[in-house]
Amino acid sequence: MSNNFNLVAPLYDRLGDLVYGGDLQASQAEYLSELPEEGLVLFIGGGSGQTLRKLIRIKPKLRIYYLDASSRMMEISKKLIPTPEQERIEFKIGTENEIPPHYKFDGVITFYFLDLFREDKKEKIFEKIHQHLKSGGVWLHADFLPAKRLLAIIKEKLMFLFFKIFSHIEANRIHEDQKLFRDRNYSELKRKFYHKKQIYSAVYQKL
Ligand SMILES: C[S@@+](CC[C@H](N)C(=O)[O-])C[C@H]1O[C@@H](n2cnc3c(N)ncnc32)[C@H](O)[C@@H]1O
Repeated sequence: MSNNFNLVAPLYDRLGDLVYGGDLQASQAEYLSELPEEGLVLFIGGGSGQTLRKLIRIKPKLRIYYLDASSRMMEISKKLIPTPEQERIEFKIGTENEIPPHYKFDGVITFYFLDLFREDKKEKIFEKIHQHLKSGGVWLHADFLPAKRLLAIIKEKLMFLFFKIFSHIEANRIHEDQKLFRDRNYSELKRKFYHKKQIYSAVYQKL
């Protein structure tokens, strides 16, 4: 099965911290406050729940559709969230295909998720999420940028090799995602770079 993070789930956060020194976590936390106070947000490919835990503290009234393909990631996430808080989170194991057709979101979160897919599939997933976001809705996105310097290029290649072997990810390299937002007329409200511009975090708004 492609994009299967079950094997690496217990190690994923520690590995990320080891390689990116906390910047993966920081980039995800950066703009959580930009989400609406209330309503329903799609958090897709959220992983082990570290950012979900921060989100529920910052936005105590927000409802969250937490969708991840890995049953192991989901298990770890649920353990992090106190039981009373779980009432406003719908945990769902699955892919973009499990977004209920009638759900319309006030916000969307894609952190280190779209980079898993080859360009044609990424485009389809992006379009699907876009259709489920209300006009005026906010889309928080964080991801890698194509490496430019030799050390960064080597790091990118090793990272893909690791996740190809252990998680069978579909993508072979990093693509710049900005065009996906530009093509659909999103307005970029904020953007911040980390780790010598190897990663970034941004806030987009659907017009
Ligand atoms: C690289 S991890 C990122 C996790 C988290 N966002 C973070 O940065 O710490 C990608 C996550 O996406 C999930 N995933 C992969 N394909 C998916 C899909 N089609 N739909 C939903 N989740 C998926 C994986 O199980 C994994 O938890």
